[in-house]
Amino acid sequence: MAYTESLSYDQRLIYSDVACSKAHVRGLADAGLITESELALMLGGLDTVEMEYRAGELDFVESDEDIHTAIERRVTELVGDPGAKIHTGRSRNDQVAAALRHYLLAQIDQIAARILELIDVLVDRADEAGMDTDAAYLPGYTHLQQAQPVLLSHHLLAHCWALMRDLDRLADCRARVDVSPMGAGALAGSSLPLDPAFTARQAGFADQFHNSLDATSDRDFVAETLFVLAMVGIHLSRMGEEVVLWSTEEFGFADLDDRYSTGSSMLPQKKNPDIAELARGKSGRLIGNLTGLLATMKSLPLAYNRDLQQDKEPVFDALDTIRLGLGAMSGMYATMTFNTQRMAQSADSEYGGATDLAEFLVRKGTPFRTAHAIIGELVRSSIAGGEPLSVLVAADPRLGTDAAALLASGEAVRQRTSPGAAGPAAVSQQRGILAERLAAIRLRW
Ligand code: ARG
Repeated sequence: MAYTESLSYDQRLIYSDVACSKAHVRGLADAGLITESELALMLGGLDTVEMEYRAGELDFVESDEDIHTAIERRVTELVGDPGAKIHTGRSRNDQVAAALRHYLLAQIDQIAARILELIDVLVDRADEAGMDTDAAYLPGYTHLQQAQPVLLSHHLLAHCWALMRDLDRLADCRARVDVSPMGAGALAGSSLPLDPAFTARQAGFADQFHNSLDATSDRDFVAETLFVLAMVGIHLSRMGEEVVLWSTEEFGFADLDDRYSTGSSMLPQKKNPDIAELARGKSGRLIGNLTGLLATMKSLPLAYNRDLQQDKEPVFDALDTIRLGLGAMSGMYATMTFNTQRMAQSADSEYGGATDLAEFLVRKGTPFRTAHAIIGELVRSSIAGGEPLSVLVAADPRLGTDAAALLASGEAVRQRTSPGAAGPAAVSQQRGILAERLAAIRLRW
């Protein structure tokens, strides 16, 4: 029992099992397999079990292998014979799949709400950082080398787009979770006059199974949920890594609120970005949960196999990890201070405008490759000779003072004007599109 039980971790399915069991017994009554008074007793028994559990008064016995057996055992104790009819026309195989699907639907909705909260925080911080011509900007990086400056709002909104895709994926995955397997029995359905569509509706599912073998052994919906959660975790890990970097002495772009950082047990001057680090670290276990379940599912013959009991721990762990992670990250982002002066100083290297100089020449008809070479040569001489790039540019007959003006502080980011670009006009436009998309997503949840 110690090896085979799942009660220790599947108890959280109790409310979903009770809801699905109620739907199932209503189905039995509808099919004329139990009387109305038996139905009332069974529904009452199920309610009592739920109340007992809520009050911490549901005692388990040694033979309770999982929460499903425990519920049935207790209902039978409470209402006698009608309780023993509860398993009519069903098997634990369709029962566990139903309870898990029902549970995941509610969990997915909660996770979606938390993702939306984090998006809202990021959008607020982006609005605060601004999108006009004197909005905050910072160096943009590729290869973690300074490349071109970008608006801070643009940078923060980049994370929003990733999280909005996660919401899309979650909605898509949710539709495949929302299918009732009730009535599939152990693997082959039943000889009794069951109506799976009726039972599915009673439990609030949008759809019901059409193949009993598939219905009892399919765990795609769990793997898919785990993938989406792992993807959210990966996004949080990238954001976390960024906060780790930004809060270093060397970057100095962000300062974490004391409530969202930790002191060192030995070094009194230290403030550690533990939440950001854990967002980075815990993404590993989310990947592990996904790959673990895929390995469990691999090569399993139809239909139910006990291996499938291994679906619960990874998905419960992933849900808990992501739910807490999203909350912690929202709080951390809402309370951190951006050092926009430091960001601007860091971004204001004249070399950040090098591309704009090349594009200045392009506007005058120079092929881009040639322009790139000309500006590259000037950058090299500036670095070698120690003369500011703007001085060399102003003195160059191909460029002149108009071009040199492009190297003024903040100019490089103002020049990023194409749709979706990192400059003020483009980011304001992006902000409008994002608001529309977000409103559409909100309608779904
Ligand atoms: N605890 C099991 C699970 O979660 C219940 C299913 C058991 N079915 C069976 N035929 N032994 O998968």
